[in-house]
Amino acid sequence: MSTYRLEDLKQYSDTLRTRQGEALNVRFVEPRDTDELQHYFRSLSTRSRYNRFFGAVSELPKGLLNEFLDVGARERFTVVATMMVDGFETIVAEARYAFHEENATLEFGLSIDDRWQGHGIGTALLRNLECRAAALGAEHIFGDTLRSNQTMISLARKSGFAFVNNPDDWKLVRFDKEINVAPKDIPCASWRLAALSRRVVSPSATA
Ligand SMILES: CC(C)(COP(=O)(O)OP(=O)(O)OC[C@H]1O[C@@H](n2cnc3c(N)ncnc32)[C@H](O)[C@@H]1OP(=O)(O)O)[C@@H](O)C(=O)NCCC(=O)NCCS
Repeated sequence: MSTYRLEDLKQYSDTLRTRQGEALNVRFVEPRDTDELQHYFRSLSTRSRYNRFFGAVSELPKGLLNEFLDVGARERFTVVATMMVDGFETIVAEARYAFHEENATLEFGLSIDDRWQGHGIGTALLRNLECRAAALGAEHIFGDTLRSNQTMISLARKSGFAFVNNPDDWKLVRFDKEINVAPKDIPCASWRLAALSRRVVSPSATA
């Protein structure tokens, strides 16, 4: 059962921009997104789904779908990036992240709708995830990708991540970046405010 209240999480929505300037709304996934989220994953190319889940899946298995929708449970969060398409709010990207308090790290995975890949959405979403990591008090942010996934490797390199072997799986490479930003300098307004108010609520917090 989630310890976060959806009503509280709803206040955290960010506007990102594609390289051409189109607006995207990034927000936590909600129960009303269930069908649309599954539709999003079914619509990804086989290759994108393989790269996202490191294996052949045609959709999110029921158990995993439920986990994706249970935002905040075990410090795991799902966000969707949406755009208005023909008057409908449409999911064009998603990211899932887990905050590991015991070693102050934030682990994430993400995907972008194939039609929108190469438009700078991955770059913008990754920056947004770094803000979330800083606001949660993470000292490192990391992800894993297949060694064959040159696009993700290139995105991570351009975003300042360093590469190490995955300790458990030779087919994966881990990209990792130190988060070294004071709460007042977090470059996303909503997460800067979240970090500052968290410090007021809990003075021992470091972010
Ligand atoms: C990997 C992924 C997230 C990148 O997102 P994106 O929005 O396409 O990336 P961006 O447009 O921000 O591009 C970032 C960089 O990636 C690289 N890149 C983008 N498209 C590329 C392509 N088709 N081939 C090789 N490199 C590419 C470029 O270096 C690019 O920087 P540049 O445009 O300044 O040259 C996206 O392609 C995706 O969702 N893939 C399927 C799922 C996946 O692989 N997830 C990662 C595992 S966690």
